[in-house]
Amino acid sequence: MTVESMAQAIYLVAALLFVGALAGLSRHETARAGNKAGMAGLTLALVATIALAFDRGLSAGGALLLFLAACTGGAIGLWRARVVEMTGMPELIALLHSFVGLAAVMVGWNGFLVVERDPEGPEAQLLRVEDAVGIHAAEVVIGVFIGAVTLTGSIVAYGKLSAKISSRPMMLPGKNLLNLGALLCFAALAVWFVIQPSPWILAAATVLALILGWHLVASIGGGDMPVVVSMLNSYSGWAAAASGFLLGNDLLIVTGALVGSSGAYLSYVMCKAMNRSFLSVIGGGFGITAPTSSGEQEHGEHREVTAGHVAELLSEASSVIITPGYGMAVAQAQHGVAELTRRLRERGIDVKFGVHPVAGRLPGHMNVLLAEAKVSYDIVLEMDEVNDDFASTSVVLVIGANDTVNPAAAEDPGSPIAGMPVLRVWEASRVVVFKRSMASGYAGVANPLFYREKTEMLFGDAKERLDDILSALPQQAPAGAIRTI
Ligand code: TAP
Repeated sequence: MTVESMAQAIYLVAALLFVGALAGLSRHETARAGNKAGMAGLTLALVATIALAFDRGLSAGGALLLFLAACTGGAIGLWRARVVEMTGMPELIALLHSFVGLAAVMVGWNGFLVVERDPEGPEAQLLRVEDAVGIHAAEVVIGVFIGAVTLTGSIVAYGKLSAKISSRPMMLPGKNLLNLGALLCFAALAVWFVIQPSPWILAAATVLALILGWHLVASIGGGDMPVVVSMLNSYSGWAAAASGFLLGNDLLIVTGALVGSSGAYLSYVMCKAMNRSFLSVIGGGFGITAPTSSGEQEHGEHREVTAGHVAELLSEASSVIITPGYGMAVAQAQHGVAELTRRLRERGIDVKFGVHPVAGRLPGHMNVLLAEAKVSYDIVLEMDEVNDDFASTSVVLVIGANDTVNPAAAEDPGSPIAGMPVLRVWEASRVVVFKRSMASGYAGVANPLFYREKTEMLFGDAKERLDDILSALPQQAPAGAIRTI
């Protein structure tokens, strides 16, 4: 068996492991196994690729470069993974997508320059057939285009997610026409490049794609950013697949297509959950009109309460729903939340969680934190499963959530988040909101919930306030009412 055919066989096993990883990651219970399958697949793929490179005559200098690049990248990746906070994951992911985009641009340019510089070299010889030259040029220009859109789009997403730039949508006049014009220009440049490959045409297509990527994501408002992150994830997959075609690497094509299609499906699912049009989000807010209301209208007075008061309220409640949000992640309050849940359930109080699909800053953010604090899966419900229960609930605890419980989304058609489904917490008998101030959430929209008659505000860091409530709650459970969480 040659090294070539052995590598292809290993690639096949790695591809199957990647499919297994995706299947595993789709459920809480199997997510760890999914991660392990992905890591095993990637290790196999790396070993096979390096063996293949040696078999194809990799020089000692090339091997040293490969070794240094792998060690440096591995060390940086390990360091970032160890120090990144859970709340910093989305911006890290956005930044990593930008590297995939950059790599695709560089692979594309390299694929072009190799043939351009040495038309008689081995790579160029492979492309002697007239048709293949055209196909190669199309692969180059498409790969560079997807990579460049991913690169700048991901950098803007990183800026918005890390609050380095405003999360408000940039509304250039005629923005949809600008996007459409850029796409048509690219199509014309791509055809021209295929007919007559030239570095100037490729440079123009690259600059155009860089501007388009930046504009597409800059036009998206804060509330729609979750969809953009998964969409960029999808683009990074397609960019990798395009590089796979250029490098003649089947595994890269398969892996890129898996990432591309699963990212696209996730974007579609998230759009459905948020009542957004998929096409309008991938089209840089196509068809979305500027909001007519800022949500800044006068709402009246809010009511502030103490942790002792909330402890009293909870001990008299028969049912409690907890709706966590980004603030729970910032405060790292999940363990306090889990302890409170345990104590309340010991008292015979029915406690469950309502998790909004985009609560936090990345898909599944709240589920991961609650699982880490060992809250049982069966009391953690999705928005659709819990929304009808609020009306019959004694107390809702909103722990660091804001946009995901904003009634303006359901009641104010002019609001920037109008139409986005939210947890209808305001239907409960009492609502306690844990946050540090009256500031708005990620979408930058004021929240009328805070001023409603049944709402009480508990200000301060959520973890500290939960500790205060736990100290104020009597330890002793009434006899015969023991439950575990
Ligand atoms: P947000 O609307 O972002 O609100 C979080 C709230 O937590 C803030 O109002 C903040 O108020 C409070 N907070 C922050 N630190 C706190 C602390 N230490 N203790 C107590 N409270 C604290 O959160 P959400 O309801 O989870 O909504 C998520 C938003 O992020 C949505 O707009 C969503 O579209 C967007 N988004 C989501 C994702 C994904 S994929 N999930 C990705 C990107 C963006 P104070 O500052 O007053 O404390």
